Parts: sequence; structure tokens; C-alpha cells
Amino acid sequence: MAESATPTEEGAVEPERKIDYLRISVTDRCNLRCVYCMPSTGVTSMPHEEILTYEEIELFARASRLAGIKRIRITGGEPLVRKGAPDLVRMLASIDPELKLSLTTNGVLLERYAAELKDAGLRRVNVSLDSLDRETYAGITRVGKLEDALTGIERAVEAGLEPVKINVVVLKGLNDDPLGFGRLTLELPVHVRFIEYMPYFDEPGRWYVSSAETRARLAGLGELEEVESPEGWGPADYFRLPGAAGAIGFISPVSCHFCSSCNRLRLTADGKMRTCLFDLNGRDIKSEIRSGAGIERLHEIIEGELARKHEEGDRNRILAAGQVRAGDHMSRIGG
Ligand code: GTP
Ligand code: 5AD
Ligand code: SF4
Repeated sequence: MAESATPTEEGAVEPERKIDYLRISVTDRCNLRCVYCMPSTGVTSMPHEEILTYEEIELFARASRLAGIKRIRITGGEPLVRKGAPDLVRMLASIDPELKLSLTTNGVLLERYAAELKDAGLRRVNVSLDSLDRETYAGITRVGKLEDALTGIERAVEAGLEPVKINVVVLKGLNDDPLGFGRLTLELPVHVRFIEYMPYFDEPGRWYVSSAETRARLAGLGELEEVESPEGWGPADYFRLPGAAGAIGFISPVSCHFCSSCNRLRLTADGKMRTCLFDLNGRDIKSEIRSGAGIERLHEIIEGELARKHEEGDRNRILAAGQVRAGDHMSRIGG
């Protein structure tokens, strides 16, 4: 496991963060067309042969387990549009029962798959749901029906994929009134996370609303009390409204740089390993596997990339400066 130590300013040595979380994007395709993520025509899908097979993904995941990865999140595009997604979950679960498997989805296909995913070994889901208003939801997703996503969330809770976290990318003038979601946490044991829009695809800043502004708009519902987020829960700060069943989180990549505590590696659908969301290229794992690399060689490559990540600086600063140099669309990297 690539856990090393660095001298502090005073010269003492303290342990570095553990990089133990892998996000695997399994497809660049999606059944929605969210305005901040894709052009209305969608993005050209990668040819089938460019996408890693489930067997190749499993091999990489086995090697990453040897390198200390303890959690794997399956993402897309929309991961449930890829055929046999529960089969992949089962394959990953067979690596090690201790491996914590989760999935990020728009929820539309959860009605069909939630129980099967749970049965295959998935522990929890994060659902992207940017509005509780039918028209606003349809406007943001261009083709989505709010009822489908809500039914999906219900099925996920029923299947025991808990906690269900709802991701809301806050967009100026589109869905920047957070009170409906705030009220939802009063009634239901879901975690709603408000995410600062990262100017990745559109004009920088066009939709950006800071977490501080969203938090101020929630004040009408009561004072937010800070709650501790369980270890390994990623970049959100969590709060609770008085007496609420669920929690409210803020993910603030633009206003609050969290790169120094980032514990993630990423594998894109076409087999590029990224140590950061904003990598321009990524290490070509697919070519390695297709030219014969086995688990030992992959393990060696991952350890090398982990060491490199430990030396990287704060990339979220480029977001704050409005100078994002993304290597690809968000839907291809998996967020
Ligand atoms: P858990 O904490 O394990 O529940 O997952 P998560 O919140 O990391 O995953 P999710 O897929 O739900 O992503 C939520 C948001 O956080 C998305 O907008 C991601 O793009 C953003 N995000 C996740 N990881 C990073 C990161 O390393 N850097 C930046 N800048 N944003 C990230
Ligand atoms: N800024 C912030 N979050 C984004 N997501 C997609 N594009 C962006 C963006 N530009 C979110 C999705 C999903 C998660 C994986 O990433 O809404 O919840
Ligand atoms: Fe699809 Fe997610 Fe992009 Fe929306 S944000 S278009 S749900 S990949």
C-alpha cells in the first residue's frame, strides 16, 4: 500500500492520506443529456472495442486491491446502461468480501436493477438528482422524467442500498433554490449533497453558485449542525437540520480546495488510469493489458501512479482560477 510519510513544517513526520478509493467508469454513454454535462446531441460514443471488458476491469481491480484499494465506485456516463452491470458488481465482489462497492447513477434504471445490484454485492448508491420539480428536472436533463428517478431512489432504499446520497449540482438560475431538498432531509433518511458546478464543459462561471450561498439559502429551515462524516466518505462536509432524518452535505471543489486530502484513483471506460479528475491524458492501462500485462505488472504500475499522486499539487486551484484544462468530458471520466 502506498502510504508514506512527509515532514510537516516543523520537521516532524506525519502519515500521509491513504489513497484507497478507485472510481471505475464503465461506459461513456448515458440515457440523459444534462445541460452541464453534455451538448444536446450527446457526445460521440466510443467504439465498443475501445471500452474495457468486464474481465479487464476485474483484472485491474484485483491489482488495485493488492495496492491497497479498499473502496470501488462504479460510474459512467450512466453505468446502468451498460449491459450486465450487476454481473460486474458480482465479479468485483468476488475479489474480496471486504471491498466496499458503490455506484453513482442518475437513478432512472434503479427501479429495474436495485435489488439485483444489492444481491450481487453492491453496498450503496449515489443518485444524481438536480431538482424535485418536474419541469426543472426535465429542463436540466433534457429527456428525463422526475418520477423515474424518484421511483429508482425508493427501490434503492427498499433494497437496502443505504445510505442513499442524492447529488445536486447547483446551477445558477436553474435549480439554485435548495429549500425543497432541505425539507426532504427533514422527512427521509437520505443524504442530500449540494455540489458546486465545476466549469468543465461550458463557459467558466456561467452556472456557478458557491456552497456558502447555498448554505445561506437553507437558513430559513433552521440552523445546520455539523455532523461527522464517516471515514472514507469523500469530499463533502456534512450537516443536519434540527430533528432531520437525513443529512445535508456540501461538495465544494471550486471554493474550497480538497486536493490535499483526495484519496482517489480513476479508471476511465477506455482504460486510462487517472490520478486526478483533471489529468490531461492518463496512463494507458488498456494497451498494457492487451499486450499481456498480468496482475503483477498492473500492481507495479498502480504503485508507481500512487507514488506520483502523493507528489501532485492542488489541482482544484485551477478550478477556482476559472482555467480548467480538462482532458475529456465529465461523462467519460465518471465525475
Ligand atoms: P462518496 O463520498 O463515496 O459517497 O462518493 P463521492 O461523493 O466521491 O462520489 P460521487 O460520484 O457521488 O461524486 C460527487 C461529486 O464529487 C461529483 O460532482 C464529483 O465530480 C465530485 N468529485 C468526486 N471526487 C472528486 C475529486 O477528486 N475532485 C473533484 N474536484 N471533484 C470530485
Ligand atoms: N460539476 C460538478 N459536478 C458534476 N457532475 C457532472 N458534471 C459536473 C460538473 N461540471 C456530477 C454529476 C454526478 C457526479 C458523478 O458528477 O451530477 O452526480
Ligand atoms: Fe448523464 Fe450524469 Fe452526465 Fe447527467 S451528469 S448527462 S446523468 S453522465
